Amino acid sequence: MKEGKPSATAEANAAFRAADSLRAEEERVCYDPFARDFLGTKFSIILKSKLLTKIALWYAERIVPGAPYSVVARTRYIDDYLEACIDDGIEQLVILGAGYDSRAYRFDKLKGKVRVFEVDHPDTQRAKIEKVKKIFGSLPDDVVYVPIDLDKRRLNEGLFKSGYDKDLKTRFICERTTQYLRVEAVDETLAFVSNDSGEDSSIIFDYAFQSALDGTLRHDEAKKWRATFEQRGEPPTFGIEETSVEEFLLKRGFCRVKNVSMESLGSVYFTGVSQGRKVTRLGGIVHATVDTQEQT
Ligand SMILES: C[S@@+](CC[C@H](N)C(=O)[O-])C[C@H]1O[C@@H](n2cnc3c(N)ncnc32)[C@H](O)[C@@H]1O
Repeated sequence: MKEGKPSATAEANAAFRAADSLRAEEERVCYDPFARDFLGTKFSIILKSKLLTKIALWYAERIVPGAPYSVVARTRYIDDYLEACIDDGIEQLVILGAGYDSRAYRFDKLKGKVRVFEVDHPDTQRAKIEKVKKIFGSLPDDVVYVPIDLDKRRLNEGLFKSGYDKDLKTRFICERTTQYLRVEAVDETLAFVSNDSGEDSSIIFDYAFQSALDGTLRHDEAKKWRATFEQRGEPPTFGIEETSVEEFLLKRGFCRVKNVSMESLGSVYFTGVSQGRKVTRLGGIVHATVDTQEQT
């Protein structure tokens, strides 16, 4: 991230969600009615015109192949997961690297029942809080904002003093964020989840393939992806190979690991009228439950 500035990729993600949410119901994959309200002037102007939106999506696809539709497929998958978790009786939700995630505001089933902790880099969170006040008139009672630079401070430092309860059944969502964190920060965060959450807690997060980060994957898509994020001041720093993700999580105190590649999500969601929309081949998404027998 650029010093003192909110994350540019967080805004771009919200813009992709906003563009999808404007489509007809049978055409869209994710529905985030607040995404548009979080955008700055440039994206707001683009979204007012169908033609400009089409050109912007085409351009985004050229610079980071698969990015626009990966964002909406990922958000939809996590939304479905969260819906199932709420029905399963979660007691607390922590959204890591929240950006302009609007789940705390659009999932009515959470309201008044589940406290949501939004953790983010202070520079992005400051901008988010201003937007939330503007959209809703005030900050919601059930949402706790926890500003932490996870590369510099540990999750427990901010969460415990914000009222997080380590005995509650908690879901952690970390969408499009692991790739920006130091390897040690990802490890420390996973250690917090596995040691400091109640029974049957779990985490869902997406990740980039290590081979896309280190240049082993030599195709054009990987090169463009790295170059774009470096240019934006948010170079990818963390990755895992899909074949080792299960072992990676088992070693860190998790069980019941379910992994899907972004490509396979694409083939589930982009059918019928939306067939042909491409998603990235460079990453996956995984959820796993804390193995209580392993808790220290
Ligand atoms: C690509 S955005 C994703 C935002 C949101 N989760 C989404 O899917 O739209 C990456 C997020 O990670 C956050 N982030 C990046 N580096 C961070 C750090 N060191 N500590 C905490 N958050 C960080 C950014 O502020 C941003 O909100």
